[in-house]
Amino acid sequence: MQTVAIGIDLGTSGLKAIAITAEGQTVAEAYASYPLLTPRPGWTEQNPTDWVEATASVLVELVQKLGQGGWEPVSIGLSGQMHGATFLDRHGEVVRPAPLWNDQRTASACAEIEATVPRRDLIQRTGNPAVTGFQLPKLVWLRQAEPEHYARTAHVLLPKDYLAYVLTGQMATEPSDASGIGVLHLESQNWDTDILQALQLNLTLFPQVIPSHGVVGSLKAEWAQATGLPRGLPVVAGAGDNAGAAIGLGLSNARPGLGSVSLGTSGVIFIPIQQPTPDPQGRIHLFCHADGGYHLLGVTLAAAGSLQWYRDKLAPGMGFEDLMLEAQSIAPGSDGVVFMPYLAGERSPYLDPDLRGAWLGLSLAHGRGHLTRALLEGVAFSLRDVLEVMHPLTKINKLLAIGGGARSDFWLSIVGSALALPLARTTIEEGPARGAAILALVGAGLYPNVAEAVRATAPEDFEVGIVALDTKPLQERYRKGLRAVQGFKVGG
Ligand code: XUL
Repeated sequence: MQTVAIGIDLGTSGLKAIAITAEGQTVAEAYASYPLLTPRPGWTEQNPTDWVEATASVLVELVQKLGQGGWEPVSIGLSGQMHGATFLDRHGEVVRPAPLWNDQRTASACAEIEATVPRRDLIQRTGNPAVTGFQLPKLVWLRQAEPEHYARTAHVLLPKDYLAYVLTGQMATEPSDASGIGVLHLESQNWDTDILQALQLNLTLFPQVIPSHGVVGSLKAEWAQATGLPRGLPVVAGAGDNAGAAIGLGLSNARPGLGSVSLGTSGVIFIPIQQPTPDPQGRIHLFCHADGGYHLLGVTLAAAGSLQWYRDKLAPGMGFEDLMLEAQSIAPGSDGVVFMPYLAGERSPYLDPDLRGAWLGLSLAHGRGHLTRALLEGVAFSLRDVLEVMHPLTKINKLLAIGGGARSDFWLSIVGSALALPLARTTIEEGPARGAAILALVGAGLYPNVAEAVRATAPEDFEVGIVALDTKPLQERYRKGLRAVQGFKVGG
């Protein structure tokens, strides 16, 4: 029997599990989906029981595949969607459905937090201002809006930490996900008791913080029986999904200067850094990494999501490749058309849920190819706005391009020009589950530390050829577009 570690990614649309060898080769995977609940506009929730059911069916399938291949699991690592709040009573029972990372109900809770702890202090201590999606504002919201549920709440856990609790009976968290709650002191990588005291929140609501590769507990007998996994299998804390994906890509302070740009539904730039130095205005996130260090994270909310929306609503029936071909026949700069990709408001660097999207500069001479090319360029410049806030904080040499949109050479060439950085692709199927499994290898003792595990499993990368353009005039036009949409607010 050959040894493997299992990694779980508790995502927003479903749960994925993979098993990897000590060298990082994937040998089996399984997936199950669950619903996203939207009980009111701006609210997003999930039933934690759906996560648990998906885990059970995914693990049964994975164990079956491992048995057929003669693989023996030595540990499970967890990763997942960040920021969500699983409220539990003193018996560990779920109090209400869990509000998620993209839930927007907490504006008044964020105002309450920043009225109690000045924004500047919050950023210096925790790396971020009060962000509507984070967990801490959800807890404050519960106290404001559902006092009877708040009174019953004895614990609040992040989604993947809740899963670890269900699997082991133990409550713990780890720095990469905990720093997305909003009350982790970055330097000590532990709870900021001054902030908790100021907000009159009990420290006992939060679990202990252990290292990302630390063992939360061992698999309960009932889970071993139900899934066929070995009894007592160590369950490793793991990482938030972005940090998990980064570990899977080999991005760590062990390899400084290397980051990633993801063209998924949202666009994400991830850069590992050694010191917890935040942008003083908190325009991008600073979180703990899963390697003991830190990382910067910038999120533009509608990246490939803008393209998907455009194709589905305005060019239904067209293939993405045909749209790209049309766009490729248009000159850089889209003959003056600019697209502002704020279809879902914006997170980094504007932190403004009320921003909205637009095409500007249209004339009778423009056609669909211009709209498409302008959209691809607009997303690239919104990523550039994120990168500009990161540049003063650390040195960046190269970005690994990931996510569905990165499959297009044409779009990557536009993004590479706008970011003025070399981009590279890897051959692995990226994702948080891989990072969770790598952390589980460390937790099981197959590597002495995360840095060694990252070095041993990091995928090869191949630079993407980029036709570098002079993007300065385009960027200036984008900035003008930004000012225009900032002056055209929803309801304003
Ligand atoms: C990060 C963030 C998302 C979620 C969803 O700040 O909100 O990446 O973790 O997956």
